[in-house]
Amino acid sequence: MKRIFVTRRIPSEGLGLLKEADVRTEVGQSDEEAGLSREALLEGVQRADVLLSLLTERVDREVLETHPGLLGVANCAVGYDNVDVEAATRLGIPVSNTPGVLTDTTADFTWALLLSIARRIPEAHSYTAAGKFRLWGPNLLLGGDVSPGGNGRKKALGVVGFGRIGAAVARRARGFDMEVLVHTRSDPGRLPDEATRVELDELLERSDFVSIHLPLTEETQHRIGAPELRRMKETAYLVNTSRGPVVDEKALVEALREGWIAGAALDVYEHEPRLTPDLAELDNVVLAPHIGSASRDTRNRMATMAAANALHHLSGKKAPNPVNPEVYDSEAWRNRRSRASG
Ligand code: DGY
Repeated sequence: MKRIFVTRRIPSEGLGLLKEADVRTEVGQSDEEAGLSREALLEGVQRADVLLSLLTERVDREVLETHPGLLGVANCAVGYDNVDVEAATRLGIPVSNTPGVLTDTTADFTWALLLSIARRIPEAHSYTAAGKFRLWGPNLLLGGDVSPGGNGRKKALGVVGFGRIGAAVARRARGFDMEVLVHTRSDPGRLPDEATRVELDELLERSDFVSIHLPLTEETQHRIGAPELRRMKETAYLVNTSRGPVVDEKALVEALREGWIAGAALDVYEHEPRLTPDLAELDNVVLAPHIGSASRDTRNRMATMAAANALHHLSGKKAPNPVNPEVYDSEAWRNRRSRASG
């Protein structure tokens, strides 16, 4: 019987889909709080025809070369910076992801973070829950406006990266009567009416909120570092729900401590899950544990998409969501598939 190695337990609907199929499913790590060791990953792949991975596993060349019969990698995430796609393509291994289903959930969460840092919601909760709320006061927990608010000035939202999630975040700005500045190196398609495409420097200088929506690549690593943070307004906030290493976290800690910017709301970290020293001690941050797509329905849908991709990999058919579709035309893929069926 063919085998799918699922690195860590995915939501039940995804596992259910695998169970219904005529395959043996092995889950490497069932403890939600524990990761999968490198040894266990390599061992699991050795026995597997298809790997279903999460963003917490580094699927590099060593992993991909572990089993010459490996027919595919189904990554249960839209981001796939954890997979060496170039090596996979060279080896004739299709790689797939879960695009689209988490767009709105992640855009909603980006706004939740943005509102939380501007209006100090976590601080307000702690204050109230600690029994400190004794009297309403005109100076209590003052924050920044998101919509025009008291001074009547439209606020500017800077969206860095304009893929599906960046665009969904930009669309939501309409409800807050904001101006939207977009920076992207690729074709943004049709921008919303209130949005303008600008260079990164202009976006940083003019925005009241800067929201990052870039995939992690060699080019985007530390795209936001000390020079970029210094360009932002002292009253501006940074929000990152994409990938941690896009922001130089050490520089960010300095920027927050020295008041180069007003605050930051982060869902992702440069050395995830570790935080850069002092980040958590700052009082102008809101920190979340990479839960942008974490709604029950969306995570179930991601899991079923990854499972469907995995089953396609297993059968040698083109997966619904390949990130390296060119692999299907390669000699390496044809050889791999015929070795597996032979
Ligand atoms: C992704 O899918 O890439 C997110 O980071 C987790 O949902």
